[in-house]
Amino acid sequence: MKILGIESSCDDTACAVVEDGADILSNIVSSQEEIHADFGGIVPEVACRKHIENILPVLEKSLEKSNTNLHDIDAVAVTNRPGLIGALLIGVTAAKSISWALDIPLIDVHHLNAHIYGAWMGDVDPDMPALSLVVSGGHTSLYLTQSSLEHEKIGATADDAAGEAFDKVANILQLGFPGGPAIEKAAQNGDPGSLDLPRTWIDADHYNFSFSGLKTAVLYHCLGQNASKSDIKNAEYPPGLVSDVAAAFQEAVVDVLVKKTCIAAERNNVNSVILGGGVAANKLLRNRLSKETRKRGIKLVMAPLSLCRDNAAIVAGLAFHLYLAGRRADLCLEAEPS
Ligand code: KG4
Ligand code: ZN
Repeated sequence: MKILGIESSCDDTACAVVEDGADILSNIVSSQEEIHADFGGIVPEVACRKHIENILPVLEKSLEKSNTNLHDIDAVAVTNRPGLIGALLIGVTAAKSISWALDIPLIDVHHLNAHIYGAWMGDVDPDMPALSLVVSGGHTSLYLTQSSLEHEKIGATADDAAGEAFDKVANILQLGFPGGPAIEKAAQNGDPGSLDLPRTWIDADHYNFSFSGLKTAVLYHCLGQNASKSDIKNAEYPPGLVSDVAAAFQEAVVDVLVKKTCIAAERNNVNSVILGGGVAANKLLRNRLSKETRKRGIKLVMAPLSLCRDNAAIVAGLAFHLYLAGRRADLCLEAEPS
């Protein structure tokens, strides 16, 4: 069964054709990074307008790459929640139009569940029950996972998401957007022990996260307690500061994510830990989580690197299982921001 997936929840316009939930025939992503880089972050109105321009060329390219005619598609799946409302609307409208015109089933997909499903699209499947950590630009959440379709949220960020913190700290360090890959690169030449940053709630008796204090601590360290936005633009940092701060910041985020995930995994007696979302591409996070889960005898299944960031293959992949479970949306399907 061939499913066309559509993803437009944030700043990536993506279409993919996936067969039987596993075989990726095409996975096309049009990124808007360069456009948003000028603003140091995603501008929702700009993202929506770009999705309108991108959606049809990306759709055509994904069909062409997969050697598939639109009439050979068996169902169309779309991310309809959560995300930027105007951005989601473009994908949802495209998917509804295709479903109506071709008279094929329409399947609505939750973006974070699709990130978790990335773990089923690699070489080995996770064993159930599992603990899923989703770390992206908009979310940092822990779920108890019973199957690819059943996730119970047990923790989330109270303020900034991990990816958002990477993006904001990269902005302070003048490293550009998106911040995650830029911080990871700068950190290679830095000393993670060069400054002591907070690890909020690392030993707390709950599974929630908070990264906003960490970001503020970086700001104060770099520019003093009265720093404003214009100070960031005009700052001239001494040699070595950027790489040291990048390394210390990355270390602090990874410490918190890994420790809380391992505590939650042990307490809930799970058989696997799943890692997905854009920040899951971070090598320090992948290596540290591998080491700590191995120590505890817990299987770790990470979304393949190529499927960590937003894409539509994880949407079409998950939709196959939703379809088998009888899930169908109709033309009243709405985009839901949260
Ligand atoms: O999942 P995603 O593509 O979009 C959302 O659903 O938000 O995640 C994007 C986030 C951005 O904040 C980006 O800075 C972060 O993932 N990211 C990384 C890395 N690559 C992307 N963060 C840390 N290390 C990376 N290598
Ligand atoms: Zn995402």
